[in-house]
Order: sequence, then C-alpha cells, then structure tokens
Amino acid sequence: MADPLHNEFPPESIEAKDLAHLLHPTTNLRQHHEIGPTVHDRAQGVYLWDNKGKQYLEGMAGLWCTALGYGEEELIRVATEQMRKLSYSQLFGGKTNESSVLLAEKLKSMVPMDAGRVFFGLSGSDANDTQIKLLWYYNNALGRPEKKKIISRHRGYHGVTIAAGSLTGLPPFHKHFDLPIAGILHTDCPLYYRGVQGAETEEEFVDRIVGNLEDLILAEDPATVAGFIAEPVMGAGGVIVPPATYYQKVQAVLDKYDILFIDDEVICGFGRTGKPFGADTFAIKPTTISLAKAISSAYLPLSAVVIPEFMYEPFIEQSAEVGTFGHGFTYSGHPVCAAVALRNLELMEEREIFDHAAAMGEIMQERLSDFADHPLVGDVRGVGLIGAVELVANKDTKAAFTADRAVGAHCTKRCEENGLILRAMGDTMAFCPPLIISEEQIDELFSKFATALDETLNWVG
Ligand SMILES: Cc1ncc(COP(=O)(O)O)c(C=O)c1O
Repeated sequence: MADPLHNEFPPESIEAKDLAHLLHPTTNLRQHHEIGPTVHDRAQGVYLWDNKGKQYLEGMAGLWCTALGYGEEELIRVATEQMRKLSYSQLFGGKTNESSVLLAEKLKSMVPMDAGRVFFGLSGSDANDTQIKLLWYYNNALGRPEKKKIISRHRGYHGVTIAAGSLTGLPPFHKHFDLPIAGILHTDCPLYYRGVQGAETEEEFVDRIVGNLEDLILAEDPATVAGFIAEPVMGAGGVIVPPATYYQKVQAVLDKYDILFIDDEVICGFGRTGKPFGADTFAIKPTTISLAKAISSAYLPLSAVVIPEFMYEPFIEQSAEVGTFGHGFTYSGHPVCAAVALRNLELMEEREIFDHAAAMGEIMQERLSDFADHPLVGDVRGVGLIGAVELVANKDTKAAFTADRAVGAHCTKRCEENGLILRAMGDTMAFCPPLIISEEQIDELFSKFATALDETLNWVG
C-alpha cells in the first residue's frame, strides 16, 4: 500500500517498508507516517547506532530493560549453547528443563519475600495477567469467590493486555480499547508535586491519599477486594517516587482488610533503584512479585511471577479436581530464555552490578538535581539509576505546557540530535540508563541533555 502521508523514502528502504508493513506499538500513528521511523542498526555497551551511522548514548536502557547493556558476549555464548543443546522444551504436563528449574531456584534466593513458587511467562503484561488469575484461583480455592477486585493506581503502568492494561492507570491505554474491565479500581497516584492540595505537607498528602484508599476499600466492601498492585517507583507514568512513609501506611491499610500486595518489579527489579529490588528501597513487604525486563537484560523475553507457598498449596487439590492447572504459555520456561536469564543474574553477581548501579545512581541523582534551577524544569525526581525532570511553562505556578506544544517530544528530538536517547512521558523526560553505565558516560549523558534542554528553552521562547 502506498503510504498516504509520507513517500519521501526510496521504496526499497527499510523506512519505506516499515511505513508500508508495520503496525507500531505505543506510537502516534499519524505522526509516524509524517516523520517516518528511526532505524536502529547495531549496539554495544551503552551505545547504539542508527542506519545512518549516527551514535547515541542509550539513556533509557531500551524500554527500561537492557540492564547489562548491549553485545554481552557471555550471554550470546550461553544462548547459542542452549539452542544447540535443547532449543525448546515445555513445562506443561510435568515436563521440565534444567535452566528453568535453576532459574526458579535462583530467583527464589534473590527476591525480598517469602518465595514459594515461580511461574514463567514472556512479558511484564502476561506476568501481571497471571498475578490476577492466580489471585482469583487462590480465593476460589479458599471458598471466597467474592474476593476478586484489584486496586491499582492512576498513572501506574502494568502492561497492555486486557487485564494488565486495565491495571494500567494511563488514559491512552484505556481510551477506545473499552478498558478498564470490571473489578479493577484505581486509587491516587503518590506524586506530591502534582497531587498536593493547598499548604498540605508531604505527610498530610500521604495521609489524605491513603485515607482515600481506605475509603475506596470500604465503599467497595473489603470482602470483595483481593489485591493491591504497585510499581515501587512508577516508570511509564512519569518516574514517580512516593514520599518516604507512603508504602508503610498503604500496607497498614491493606493488612487491616486482608488485601495482598502485588509488587510489580518489572522496572525496579534487579538493582534499578539502588538496592536489589524496589521493595528493598521502600521497605515494602510484598505477597507476590512480578519480574521481567532486567531479569534477562532483554537479550531474550522472559517474565516471572513469584508467589508464596501458602498460595500454591490450595492450587494442588483444586487443579486435581479440574484435571489440570489450566494456565500456562507455550513458552513458559523456554530453556533458551531461562539459560540467558540465569547467566545474566550470575553476571550481575560476579560483576557486583547492584553495587555499581547504587554508586552510579548516587552520581546520577546529583547530576539530575543540578537541573532543578533550569527555567524549564518544575520538578526533579528519582532514586538510583532511574530519574526524571518535568518540564513546565511556569516554575512558580507549576503550570504545564498545553499538550499541542509537545514540548517533551521536542526535547526528545533535541536529545536525539545531540546523540542521546531519552523518552518523554508527556513533558516529563525520563532517565534510565543501562546499569553498567560509568561515571564518565553519566557526564556525557547530562552534558548532551543540558544542550538539548537549552535548545528546547530557546525553541519554547
Ligand atoms: C512496571 C511495568 N509493568 C509491566 C510492564 C509491561 O511489560 P511488557 O511491556 O513486557 O508487557 C511494564 C512495561 O514497561 C512496566 O514498566
């Protein structure tokens, strides 16, 4: 099909073929047809090159996932070896394979919870869908079929499948898709900068929004609410780091009504927040955990749901009664993905990546805070190697730019021109470099960003 909006690219180019053949995920499709694609060609370490030979510093670890950076020979070796030995096997019907079993054992030893069982999938979305199904299955086994609702938060991101997309609390992922589905509720986002009312202190803000959570539970009837899901730091919602006492107060309410805490560590897991898991950084006591992204440093897709043994125990009889535990993917426990993830986690240990990420995280947060005085910057936030600056029209009133100005998109473009990949969520610029980034590369990142930000300021006028 001829491209209706864009035909400048030679017909045989990847750009033209992209425009002719792909339906791009999470993309403004009209704008894509007007501007055309950026073709990524190769990558090494924290750098990536496009098909015109331009080099970029990867400031977003892909989609928050390339923890060990690109081109890691050891992972390439393990993947090749495993493919040669056993390129596929399954976990259905009691079959198993060594790498999946060893990866499950490894994960159980790492996660900050009372880990009983590990279920494998391929994406963060399927992990969070699995979380909901397991919680429903569990409450049915316990003879309380009414306890099924899940509370998520506005601006949270938990994926895009029908259930996980419903957990997500961002309008573009709901609008025109007929989401959220029934039984998924949303409570306040813990961003003090935007959520504060009047002269409220941070603590008063926390008390108010946790009070709203309790009111929601009571209005719905606590006997119908099964779980609460949260990313310790919200990523795609704009890198939102909650106030210090937020999770303790949330957990006190959840405990009061026997509501389980589902910890979505898809971004925060494996060193991103300066500790091994986001739950460590924020002293959360999760009941279950979702893992993906850095679990394999994105060399191959893999996700995991970890549940406590007390949830697993009633599954045994309930599955026998039906004849099977009727949940699982063709690629649950794919041996190549599991072998790569396992070696990835071993490399993280051997190379003390969590310590390195913590040290680099402190440097990154310091560099980020330098931007607080910039005329375009309303808020600077972050922890460890994840951070953001929110661009505003007026620093004093916090007035945002109107969406049609697309200031964040412009700043992203300026970053790209300067050889830096960042991502804008609205007008919030996010930073999430590979965990292997060095101090020198952090300096390079922020020097490029400073130029791009000044260019954006000139453009804004
Ligand atoms: C916190 C969180 N949960 C879940 C997901 C969904 O993961 P996926 O895109 O692999 O389905 C994401 C993706 O960015 C995420 O950031």
